[in-house]
Amino acid sequence: MLSQDITAPRIVVLASGNGSNLQTLIEATRRPEFPGSVVAVGCNRPHAFALERAAQAGIETFVVDHTQFDSRAEFDTALRAEIDRHTPNLLVLAGFMRILTTEFVRTYHGIMLNIHPSLLPKYPGLNTHQRALDAGDDIHGVSIHFVTEDLDGGPVIAQAEVLVAPGDTADSLADKVREKEHLLYPIVVRWFCEGRLQLSGDTVQFDGEPMPRPFYLKD
Ligand code: GAR
Repeated sequence: MLSQDITAPRIVVLASGNGSNLQTLIEATRRPEFPGSVVAVGCNRPHAFALERAAQAGIETFVVDHTQFDSRAEFDTALRAEIDRHTPNLLVLAGFMRILTTEFVRTYHGIMLNIHPSLLPKYPGLNTHQRALDAGDDIHGVSIHFVTEDLDGGPVIAQAEVLVAPGDTADSLADKVREKEHLLYPIVVRWFCEGRLQLSGDTVQFDGEPMPRPFYLKD
Protein backbone atom coordinates (compact mmCIF):
# COMPACT_ATOMS: atom_id res chain seq x y z
CA MET A 1 0.00 0.00 0.00
CA LEU A 2 1.48 3.33 -1.01
CA SER A 3 -0.29 6.14 0.66
CA GLN A 4 0.46 9.43 2.29
CA ASP A 5 -2.56 9.10 4.53
CA ILE A 6 -1.27 7.35 7.63
CA THR A 7 0.01 8.51 10.98
CA ALA A 8 3.68 7.45 10.93
CA PRO A 9 5.09 7.92 7.43
CA ARG A 10 7.69 5.40 6.35
CA ILE A 11 10.49 6.96 4.33
CA VAL A 12 12.75 5.10 1.91
CA VAL A 13 15.81 7.05 0.76
CA LEU A 14 17.69 6.27 -2.45
CA ALA A 15 21.28 7.48 -2.84
CA SER A 16 24.23 6.74 -5.08
CA GLY A 17 27.25 8.23 -3.36
CA ASN A 18 28.43 10.08 -0.29
CA GLY A 19 25.03 10.42 1.31
CA SER A 20 25.50 13.69 3.18
CA ASN A 21 21.86 14.56 2.52
CA LEU A 22 20.87 11.13 3.76
CA GLN A 23 22.82 11.85 6.94
CA THR A 24 20.95 15.08 7.63
CA LEU A 25 17.65 13.30 6.99
CA ILE A 26 18.57 10.49 9.37
CA GLU A 27 19.48 13.03 12.04
CA ALA A 28 16.34 15.10 11.50
CA THR A 29 14.00 12.12 11.54
CA ARG A 30 15.60 10.78 14.72
CA ARG A 31 14.43 13.80 16.69
CA PRO A 32 11.58 12.67 18.91
CA GLU A 33 9.02 15.04 17.47
CA PHE A 34 9.72 14.24 13.81
CA PRO A 35 6.58 12.82 12.18
CA GLY A 36 8.19 10.06 10.10
CA SER A 37 11.17 7.73 9.99
CA VAL A 38 13.72 6.44 7.49
CA VAL A 39 12.98 2.71 7.32
CA ALA A 40 15.39 1.76 4.54
CA VAL A 41 18.15 3.12 2.32
CA GLY A 42 18.71 1.81 -1.20
CA CYS A 43 21.75 2.29 -3.43
CA ASN A 44 22.63 1.40 -6.98
CA ARG A 45 26.34 1.28 -6.09
CA PRO A 46 27.52 -1.44 -3.71
CA HIS A 47 30.34 0.68 -2.28
CA ALA A 48 28.45 3.93 -1.80
CA PHE A 49 29.33 5.63 1.49
CA ALA A 50 25.60 6.24 1.96
CA LEU A 51 25.27 2.52 2.78
CA GLU A 52 27.76 2.86 5.61
CA ARG A 53 25.95 5.87 6.98
CA ALA A 54 22.69 3.91 7.02
CA ALA A 55 24.30 0.86 8.59
CA GLN A 56 25.88 3.04 11.29
CA ALA A 57 22.43 4.36 12.07
CA GLY A 58 21.00 0.84 12.22
CA ILE A 59 18.82 1.37 9.16
CA GLU A 60 18.11 -1.47 6.76
CA THR A 61 19.85 -1.18 3.40
CA PHE A 62 19.51 -2.73 -0.02
CA VAL A 63 21.63 -2.60 -3.15
CA VAL A 64 20.32 -2.92 -6.67
CA ASP A 65 23.45 -2.65 -8.78
CA HIS A 66 22.53 -1.16 -12.13
CA THR A 67 25.57 -2.74 -13.79
CA GLN A 68 23.99 -6.17 -13.25
CA PHE A 69 20.98 -5.46 -15.46
CA ASP A 70 20.67 -5.48 -19.24
CA SER A 71 18.08 -2.75 -19.40
CA ARG A 72 16.83 0.23 -17.44
CA ALA A 73 13.40 -1.42 -17.24
CA GLU A 74 14.79 -4.55 -15.58
CA PHE A 75 16.82 -2.47 -13.14
CA ASP A 76 13.78 -0.39 -12.23
CA THR A 77 11.62 -3.47 -11.73
CA ALA A 78 14.16 -4.93 -9.32
CA LEU A 79 14.49 -1.59 -7.55
CA ARG A 80 10.72 -1.28 -7.17
CA ALA A 81 10.52 -4.75 -5.64
CA GLU A 82 13.10 -3.79 -3.00
CA ILE A 83 11.47 -0.47 -2.27
CA ASP A 84 7.99 -1.96 -1.97
CA ARG A 85 9.14 -4.51 0.61
CA HIS A 86 9.38 -1.50 2.92
CA THR A 87 5.89 -0.15 2.10
CA PRO A 88 7.02 3.48 1.92
CA ASN A 89 4.75 6.48 2.18
CA LEU A 90 7.54 8.69 0.88
CA LEU A 91 10.44 7.97 -1.46
CA VAL A 92 13.29 10.46 -1.17
CA LEU A 93 15.98 10.71 -3.83
CA ALA A 94 19.12 12.06 -2.17
CA GLY A 95 21.86 12.13 -4.77
CA PHE A 96 20.40 9.14 -6.63
CA MET A 97 22.12 9.37 -9.99
CA ARG A 98 19.99 7.13 -12.21
CA ILE A 99 17.38 8.16 -14.73
CA LEU A 100 14.16 6.35 -13.85
CA THR A 101 11.66 4.81 -16.27
CA THR A 102 8.22 6.27 -16.80
CA GLU A 103 6.67 3.25 -15.15
CA PHE A 104 8.82 3.73 -12.05
CA VAL A 105 7.98 7.41 -11.82
CA ARG A 106 4.26 6.68 -12.24
CA THR A 107 4.36 4.10 -9.47
CA TYR A 108 5.51 6.69 -6.94
CA HIS A 109 3.66 9.66 -8.37
CA GLY A 110 3.03 12.23 -5.66
CA ILE A 111 5.20 10.51 -3.08
CA MET A 112 8.66 10.87 -4.63
CA LEU A 113 10.89 13.88 -3.95
CA ASN A 114 14.23 14.82 -5.50
CA ILE A 115 16.91 17.34 -4.60
CA HIS A 116 18.70 18.97 -7.47
CA PRO A 117 21.73 21.27 -7.25
CA SER A 118 20.49 24.23 -9.28
CA LEU A 119 17.72 26.79 -9.29
CA LEU A 120 15.37 24.85 -11.56
CA PRO A 121 14.30 25.28 -14.28
CA LYS A 122 17.93 26.30 -14.79
CA TYR A 123 20.39 23.49 -15.40
CA PRO A 124 18.53 20.21 -15.27
CA GLY A 125 20.88 17.24 -15.66
CA LEU A 126 24.54 17.09 -14.70
CA ASN A 127 27.45 19.50 -14.00
CA THR A 128 25.14 22.17 -12.67
CA HIS A 129 27.82 24.10 -10.76
CA GLN A 130 30.16 24.39 -13.73
CA ARG A 131 27.26 25.39 -15.96
CA ALA A 132 26.28 28.17 -13.56
CA LEU A 133 29.90 29.40 -13.55
CA ASP A 134 30.18 29.19 -17.35
CA ALA A 135 26.99 31.22 -17.70
CA GLY A 136 28.39 33.91 -15.39
CA ASP A 137 25.50 33.56 -12.92
CA ASP A 138 25.66 35.65 -9.75
CA ILE A 139 23.18 33.42 -7.99
CA HIS A 140 23.02 29.66 -7.90
CA GLY A 141 21.29 27.23 -5.58
CA VAL A 142 19.25 24.14 -4.92
CA SER A 143 15.73 22.97 -5.66
CA ILE A 144 13.52 20.28 -4.19
CA HIS A 145 10.75 19.01 -6.42
CA PHE A 146 8.20 16.29 -6.87
CA VAL A 147 9.48 13.76 -9.38
CA THR A 148 7.47 13.48 -12.57
CA GLU A 149 8.23 11.99 -15.97
CA ASP A 150 9.89 15.24 -16.95
CA LEU A 151 13.56 14.78 -15.90
CA ASP A 152 14.37 17.37 -13.19
CA GLY A 153 11.23 19.13 -14.39
CA GLY A 154 8.65 18.20 -11.77
CA PRO A 155 6.88 20.91 -9.77
CA VAL A 156 9.33 22.73 -7.51
CA ILE A 157 8.47 22.84 -3.81
CA ALA A 158 11.37 24.76 -2.30
CA GLN A 159 14.57 26.50 -3.25
CA ALA A 160 17.56 28.14 -1.58
CA GLU A 161 20.06 30.48 -3.15
CA VAL A 162 23.80 30.89 -2.81
CA LEU A 163 25.84 33.81 -4.06
CA VAL A 164 28.50 33.05 -6.63
CA ALA A 165 31.68 34.83 -5.53
CA PRO A 166 34.64 35.78 -7.72
CA GLY A 167 37.05 32.86 -7.59
CA ASP A 168 34.36 30.26 -6.93
CA THR A 169 34.99 26.89 -8.56
CA ALA A 170 32.57 24.06 -9.24
CA ASP A 171 33.79 22.44 -6.01
CA SER A 172 33.42 25.53 -3.85
CA LEU A 173 29.95 26.11 -5.26
CA ALA A 174 29.02 22.49 -4.60
CA ASP A 175 30.04 22.97 -0.95
CA LYS A 176 27.96 26.12 -0.61
CA VAL A 177 24.96 24.48 -2.25
CA ARG A 178 25.27 21.37 -0.10
CA GLU A 179 25.08 23.49 3.05
CA LYS A 180 21.72 24.81 1.87
CA GLU A 181 20.59 21.33 0.85
CA HIS A 182 21.17 20.09 4.39
CA LEU A 183 18.90 22.81 5.76
CA LEU A 184 16.19 22.56 3.12
CA TYR A 185 15.57 18.83 2.62
CA PRO A 186 14.61 18.08 6.24
CA ILE A 187 12.11 20.97 6.15
CA VAL A 188 10.40 19.67 3.02
CA VAL A 189 10.41 16.04 4.19
CA ARG A 190 8.84 17.15 7.45
CA TRP A 191 6.09 19.00 5.58
CA PHE A 192 5.36 15.91 3.54
CA CYS A 193 5.26 13.71 6.62
CA GLU A 194 2.91 16.15 8.32
CA GLY A 195 0.55 15.79 5.37
CA ARG A 196 0.98 19.44 4.41
CA LEU A 197 2.36 18.80 0.91
CA GLN A 198 0.54 17.18 -1.99
CA LEU A 199 0.96 17.01 -5.73
CA SER A 200 -2.27 17.73 -7.55
CA GLY A 201 -1.85 17.51 -11.31
CA ASP A 202 1.14 19.74 -11.92
CA THR A 203 0.52 21.86 -8.87
CA VAL A 204 2.10 21.66 -5.46
CA GLN A 205 -0.50 22.02 -2.74
CA PHE A 206 0.56 23.29 0.66
CA ASP A 207 -1.95 23.06 3.50
CA GLY A 208 -4.63 22.29 0.92
CA GLU A 209 -3.97 25.40 -1.21
CA PRO A 210 -2.00 25.66 -4.46
CA MET A 211 1.51 26.98 -3.74
CA PRO A 212 1.80 30.14 -5.83
CA ARG A 213 5.61 29.90 -5.94
CA PRO A 214 8.26 27.68 -4.39
CA PHE A 215 9.16 28.27 -0.76
CA TYR A 216 12.41 30.23 -0.55
CA LEU A 217 14.74 29.54 2.34
CA LYS A 218 16.00 32.85 3.73
CA ASP A 219 19.55 33.26 5.03
C1 GAR B 1 23.65 16.65 -3.95
O1 GAR B 1 24.31 17.86 -4.20
C2 GAR B 1 22.37 16.57 -4.76
O2 GAR B 1 21.77 17.81 -4.97
C3 GAR B 1 22.87 15.99 -6.05
O3 GAR B 1 23.83 15.04 -5.68
C4 GAR B 1 24.46 15.48 -4.48
C5 GAR B 1 24.49 14.32 -3.51
O4 GAR B 1 25.26 14.62 -2.38
N1 GAR B 1 21.82 15.43 -6.81
C6 GAR B 1 21.79 15.41 -8.12
O5 GAR B 1 22.67 15.88 -8.81
C7 GAR B 1 20.56 14.76 -8.73
N2 GAR B 1 20.47 15.06 -10.11
P1 GAR B 1 25.23 13.68 -1.12
O6 GAR B 1 25.46 12.25 -1.63
O7 GAR B 1 26.37 14.14 -0.28
O8 GAR B 1 23.89 13.82 -0.46
